[in-house]
Amino acid sequence: MIREALEIARSIRMRDPARPTVAESILCYAGLHAVLWHRLAHRLWQSGFRGPARCVSHFARFLTGVEIHPGARIGRRLFIDHGMGVVIGETAEIGDDVLIYHGVTLGGLTTKPGKRHPTLADGAIIGAGAQVLGPILIGRNARVGANAVCVDPVPDGVTVVGIPARPPGRAPEQQTTGYGIAPGAPDPVAEQIAALRAEIAALRQHISLRA
Ligand SMILES: CC(C)(COP(=O)(O)OP(=O)(O)OC[C@H]1O[C@@H](n2cnc3c(N)ncnc32)[C@H](O)[C@@H]1OP(=O)(O)O)[C@@H](O)C(=O)NCCC(=O)NCCS
Repeated sequence: MIREALEIARSIRMRDPARPTVAESILCYAGLHAVLWHRLAHRLWQSGFRGPARCVSHFARFLTGVEIHPGARIGRRLFIDHGMGVVIGETAEIGDDVLIYHGVTLGGLTTKPGKRHPTLADGAIIGAGAQVLGPILIGRNARVGANAVCVDPVPDGVTVVGIPARPPGRAPEQQTTGYGIAPGAPDPVAEQIAALRAEIAALRQHISLRA
């Protein structure tokens, strides 16, 4: 446990631009605490003590704001930066040297049991608030942008952003406006306004004929 705490603390020092000391990382990084609590919960879960495992996980959530199901499999040097609001589901798998920011969900899309949560390969980075959903593979060193909703696999080294998450820099015809309406697609608000304007014009004409 101490060896793992030191290993994660050193990797936090390398990756966090705030360059915390190893002592700061061990004492003040809730994401590090969450991983250590998870080791205990996971061991209990694997030994068949499911109730105690859930209790440890719940207590850790209370302390850190990070909810990791005890069944989740987590590799070495996971850095959960800031931590608050992270949810990691039961069948999620996380490789080594993964970086997850606050508000991330590694969630499922089905109520059926079995593998239903994502797998993050080594070195993947998941931006703040991103929702990664379903039993998809996020490849080695792939990046999911902040606030993206990712429901498709992401190949090694590829960056995706937006909802649904796609590589940035798409062709202009595929780009959306700031309000999420693709150029050329029907715009229900504009259609309603056009109908109202037509009705006002007809009423004006009716009034002018009577006057
Ligand atoms: C996705 C990300 C990794 C891309 O970084 P990058 O490779 O340096 O990419 P760039 O900043 O050059 O942006 C490339 C394009 O993607 C767009 N983009 C970047 N991040 C985006 C995001 N989260 N959502 C939507 N679009 C995004 C940029 O506007 C740019 O678009 P353009 O080509 O039309 O100008 C990064 O922007 C990101 O979201 N990182 C997460 C960081 C985070 O969560 N920090 C929290 C710290 S507390």
